[in-house]
Amino acid sequence: RKEQALAAIDAADTADAVEALRVEALGKQGWISQLLKTLGAMTPEERQERAPAIQAARGEVADAIAARKQALEAAALERRLASETLDLTLPAPDTPAGSVHPVSQVMDELAEIFADLGFSVATGPEIEDDWHNFTALNMAETHPARAMHDTFYFPDRDAAGNRMLLRTHTSPVQIRSMKEEGAPIRIIAPGRVYRSDSDATHTPMFHQIEGLVIDRDIHLGHLKWTLETFLKAFFERDDIVLRLRPSYFPFTEPSVEVDVGWQDVKGRRVLGGDGDAPGHGWMELLGSGMVNARVIEFAGLDPAEWQGFAFGVGVDRLAMLKYGMDDLRAFFDGDRRWLAHYGFSP
Ligand code: PHE
Repeated sequence: RKEQALAAIDAADTADAVEALRVEALGKQGWISQLLKTLGAMTPEERQERAPAIQAARGEVADAIAARKQALEAAALERRLASETLDLTLPAPDTPAGSVHPVSQVMDELAEIFADLGFSVATGPEIEDDWHNFTALNMAETHPARAMHDTFYFPDRDAAGNRMLLRTHTSPVQIRSMKEEGAPIRIIAPGRVYRSDSDATHTPMFHQIEGLVIDRDIHLGHLKWTLETFLKAFFERDDIVLRLRPSYFPFTEPSVEVDVGWQDVKGRRVLGGDGDAPGHGWMELLGSGMVNARVIEFAGLDPAEWQGFAFGVGVDRLAMLKYGMDDLRAFFDGDRRWLAHYGFSP
């Protein structure tokens, strides 16, 4: 019986077959287990005579089973190693990583450029009150300029009874900075602003950088020099052409709108990419002017002693020009393919 069992174990070619043979021999009802049970009923002499052979058979069968199981496992591993090959020349899988958004990139660059000119960075709330966003900027409740801002108002007033709104420009930071720091002052204030407006060059949320310089004897020449210097640094070229147009803002007097030429005098494109920018060669970039004496008063300073200039730049438009992007709405779609197209995705 033992020889027969050993031969069967050797011939078994699956783990299941080996297991079945183990149960047949060593299981509770197995023939070796049955033989071992018969030992109890024997006389001591009989038992001494028969026991060693039964124990030896059990050992031999158990060893044979273990050896066969191991051999089958080793063979299975061999087969797996032979079939699963590892190709070290395959490229590593693509692991997507984040990148800096063009708007953030431009804001960082501007902060650096203005830091070199001695400006520090100021901030203000995006949820603003009517007084800071309009009244203190010389736009009384009934001022017609308010209508041009397409303002998002909140339904409730704040504790002091102020109408609350999403700021329509970064200019309220002018007021907050003058009130907090006094004069002289030299700040930029980057941030989000909101207007109910949407087309290829307008989104309901967009970005501005406000600039404010308040000191003694500041004049329009300082403004022009500052704007030229920063735009040359930003576009990294000396042949930037600016067009200054007389304009109107309630909070500056005089007021100047500034366009940048994206074509040189020979009509060659020097800024931006494909497609026609609005203005047939000119892109409207910023509003600016000498801070209105009324605004300086509203902010608690004496306009007889302090003057200054201010400007508000469209950051998104700067990015469009610098990177040749032609639809502002794509800036806020969060589409990685768009970012990658303009070299912003790793
Ligand atoms: N706040 C103005 C706007 O959003 C821009 C501006 C800022 C104009 C500062 C003059 C001075 O249109």
